[in-house]
Amino acid sequence: MTDLTKLESKLGEVTGLAMAAQMTTQKVIGLARKEGEDELVSRLEQMQGEAAETEYKCTKIAGSLDGKKTAILAEARATKAKAAEMMKTYLDPDADMLDGFEFLTMAEAGEVGHWSVLRQLSHKASDARIEALVDWALPIQTRHLAGVLDGSRQLASSEDPSEPA
Ligand SMILES: [Fe+2]
Repeated sequence: MTDLTKLESKLGEVTGLAMAAQMTTQKVIGLARKEGEDELVSRLEQMQGEAAETEYKCTKIAGSLDGKKTAILAEARATKAKAAEMMKTYLDPDADMLDGFEFLTMAEAGEVGHWSVLRQLSHKASDARIEALVDWALPIQTRHLAGVLDGSRQLASSEDPSEPA
């Protein structure tokens, strides 16, 4: 088992969150399709594409770190598995799209948090490649968070508060 630095381990975690985001958005796309929310579907598809791109860029950097790739990707898969477990717990079979957006809000906030930590670590390590990756990814994650928050509010505004839950 290769020992990872905190920086490398955090890179593994954001990679895993990007993997999980593709799975989570897929789940919520399904819920949005069922409810005929085409505009939200296309927003989610864009997020999903950006999550795939993030995973790709992270994996490329992990692959360039001598002998660390396997351990970083193992960390990524472990993080993804935890996120999958959380999604299963939160989104039970009768979850609706608003539940899906609320879960996405937590997930995207988690991504913003992790990327912010990676920013500090990469800055302290003067790791230019990871810093450049963060410069690319953090604004995207911040936009994702704003987007799902906005989607949650939009869905909430069309709910009837007096209807049975
Ligand atoms: Fe995201």
